Amino acid sequence: MATLNPMPPVPAPKAKVIIFDTTLRDGEQSPGASLNRTEKLEIAHALEQLGVDVIEAGFPITSPGDFDAVRSIASELKQATVAGLARCTEQDVRRAGEAVQNAAHGRIHVFCATSKIHREFKLNKAKDEILRLTEQNVKLARDYVADVEFSPEDASRTELDFLAQVVQAAIEAGATTINCPDTVGYATPEEYQAMFEYLLAQVPGARNVIFSAHCHDDLGLAVANSLAAIRGGARQVECTINGIGERAGNAALEEVVMALRTRGDQFRFTTGIHTPRLLPCSRLVSTLTGLHVQRNKAIVGENAFAHEAGIHQDGVLKERRTYEIMTPEEVGLVRNKLVLGKHSGRHAFRQRLDELGLHLDAEALERAFGQFKMLCDKKKEIYDEDLEALADEQLVEDRQLFQLKNLQVMAGTHGVATATVTLLDSGGAEITDAAIGDGPVDAMFAAIQRLTRISARLDSYQVRSLTGGREAQGEAIVELTHNELKVRGRGFSTDILEASAKAYVAAINRVRTLSRRTVSQASPL
Ligand code: KIV
Ligand code: ZN
Repeated sequence: MATLNPMPPVPAPKAKVIIFDTTLRDGEQSPGASLNRTEKLEIAHALEQLGVDVIEAGFPITSPGDFDAVRSIASELKQATVAGLARCTEQDVRRAGEAVQNAAHGRIHVFCATSKIHREFKLNKAKDEILRLTEQNVKLARDYVADVEFSPEDASRTELDFLAQVVQAAIEAGATTINCPDTVGYATPEEYQAMFEYLLAQVPGARNVIFSAHCHDDLGLAVANSLAAIRGGARQVECTINGIGERAGNAALEEVVMALRTRGDQFRFTTGIHTPRLLPCSRLVSTLTGLHVQRNKAIVGENAFAHEAGIHQDGVLKERRTYEIMTPEEVGLVRNKLVLGKHSGRHAFRQRLDELGLHLDAEALERAFGQFKMLCDKKKEIYDEDLEALADEQLVEDRQLFQLKNLQVMAGTHGVATATVTLLDSGGAEITDAAIGDGPVDAMFAAIQRLTRISARLDSYQVRSLTGGREAQGEAIVELTHNELKVRGRGFSTDILEASAKAYVAAINRVRTLSRRTVSQASPL
């Protein structure tokens, strides 16, 4: 009797891990990384295109600016869930509820510290009060949205039995996601995994909600801990692009996603991330926050796919997989791709911006196209990095203030440097002044201070080339402090002195805008 060939085993479908991106909230808490509303919207659109499931857009109670940013993002995004953070207080929860009320998919993320050290020294509250606040505010959040996340802050340092009680209270009050953060980056992977296993086994109703990991990188373990949490039963990971965030940062989204993808043999999970968008997204976040990615950073660092040693180069030429565990294309790396030139029209220009995930309104697109044509006169080859810089210049919100019109600098190895600067003021009038300085940059900055009558301390000044080659555009970043207000400005040009002056003017404009706004900072809870 003929025997039938047995059917090959059908692999079980991989379960999905929800990617919750907090670049715009925890990431923005990185020192010096504050973003304006337009920049936040731009990043939110890029995150949605990347395939992120949940975007934590901000902490609405902290300032009118943050509230506005969360509200705009919530109204514009249609696919991703948009979350607003709230402490365990009525005022916070209501503000977050108002901010996400127009979202296609809105979430309120309520948190309350639970560890002994936070209860005693930060909150001065007993366990029962924490339980009462949790129950009350999760219920209140449910009055606004069906999707409520609760985080016992500093969960990894909380007594396990009390943590289980708080988690149970939050679930019974209606939380649909329970996020257990390693707030200070203290846990080891084994401990963190065990915490999720314990909660899933001990807390009634735990299997009906999604457990989430949120790890900080103080000991360099944020990604390892996030992966361990998945092994322990977490099905959501909170992370940021480039790993930016409080202190040493959060788990890097690109690392978590590529670890799950590349080591599918170890983790039978998938994500909704469209990985070729990782690098454009990383560059956007780095440009807009001014937080540069270290060269050897995993996945998105400049050297992540560079092979220096001859023996490695030889191996890669013979067979890529000898030294590459992922392909550069998988993460969106296309080296110095020549994209457009002098003869490219509006259509090609817009299409490439779209492909890069850069959204400009009609007016900004027109301005960017005009600048693109001028750039083509200065440099023959236009790369993606140049287009990103052009788009980035359109995101400046304070363009109605000062603008650089003209610059003349005299400097040499001997003698005093002199700069003559002409600006357009907010009424469009030309104003000119000159100053001397300790070198050309110092002279230029002094002339701009005289013209704008805003004096500020220069905290940091950096210049880098966007691409290779002699014609490359330079990017200058200036950080200033004016009356305790810290601001940052960026400028781009093929001439680094012009880029520096533009960056300085952008920072001064930021001082003007922010000094006019009254910002109501929330007190810590
Ligand atoms: O690190 C942390 O504990 C947080 C919470 C607000 C989730 O960021
Ligand atoms: Zn955090």
